[in-house]
Amino acid sequence: MRQFALLALSVIAVTLLTHSPLTARTPLDKQESENKKPRVVILATGGTIAGAATSSTQASYKPGVLSIEQILKTVPEIEKIAQLKGIQVSNIASQNMEEGIWLELWRTIDNLFTHDLCDGVVITHGTDIMEESAYFLNLTVRHSRPVVITGAMRASTSLSPDGPFNLFNAVALAASPNAQNRGVMVVMNDYILSADDVTKTNTVNTDAFECPNFGPLGYMRGGTPLFFRESRQTHTASSIFNLKGLTSLPKTDIVYAYAFSSDIAINALIDASTDGVVIAGVGHGNYNKAIAAAMERGSSKGVAFIRSSRILGGGVDLSAEDYDSRWPVSFNKSPQKARILLMLSLTLTKDPKEIQKFFMEY
Ligand code: SIN
Repeated sequence: MRQFALLALSVIAVTLLTHSPLTARTPLDKQESENKKPRVVILATGGTIAGAATSSTQASYKPGVLSIEQILKTVPEIEKIAQLKGIQVSNIASQNMEEGIWLELWRTIDNLFTHDLCDGVVITHGTDIMEESAYFLNLTVRHSRPVVITGAMRASTSLSPDGPFNLFNAVALAASPNAQNRGVMVVMNDYILSADDVTKTNTVNTDAFECPNFGPLGYMRGGTPLFFRESRQTHTASSIFNLKGLTSLPKTDIVYAYAFSSDIAINALIDASTDGVVIAGVGHGNYNKAIAAAMERGSSKGVAFIRSSRILGGGVDLSAEDYDSRWPVSFNKSPQKARILLMLSLTLTKDPKEIQKFFMEY
């Protein structure tokens, strides 16, 4: 029985680690499994951390060029802190992220943790969509082992690239016993940021990420995490959202409010049978009469709506102007995160009161 279990485990390991045609490394061998260092799997998806330019001072570059093997060669120091395996899941600029890649990331992480194939996961990712992938996994990876996402603002060929130290920090965090049960974390520029609050606040600077509502979870110092707060919302192992058996997700979109907003975009989405729309409202989640009328129309066709705000901090709470329980408010969720929570909420219910509870909890 024990022999069978071991065999089954190694078959799963080989399947997982050879699943992608771009797999960079071999499965754990005997010598490695006897090694006491924590086992960290790096899932590479592309971005600037894998980007390259033609000169070391050039500002523009091409993202998603280097393989995970090439990236790992730039940070030999991480071999000292963890047993590493790299899996190339994709090699894209993150604006081209697809639902299929999110589902693949979720499936791979779920398999790795379910079958005890590693102690922590690091995802290398483009910074543009990083906060969205982090929040999606924060709501769907139902395990307490660490999942850490990192990337870079400067390409690998830069005179002073930030990717190598970000990756070192991410692996050190994923390998740390102190990182368990803290939800999915983003590590950038030495900060540890919670998936539920992190957002990109600068388009080019290396100090590009913040948690505008609650502040960072902590920071990395010499490969050691120092935490000064817990994640505030329900996440990962305690999440109700279960992707098992799902091959696609509800379609949800965002409509931006602005001075004399038109109803053209929102009505087009309703007519294209979207399942839900997040309004990126002005101020405390407000929008004009044209959008309000379109929401009434969409509601009669079964489209769900969320009131969020285009403002960076403060969120939208139950004290919003003309609060109507048919349109749940987003609390601290940015429009792009509210869209993900709405998408997952719609896998369970269309009842706005239930959806409102999810927005209070997650
Ligand atoms: C991307 O998001 O893939 C490009 C930008 C970056 O990684 O910083």
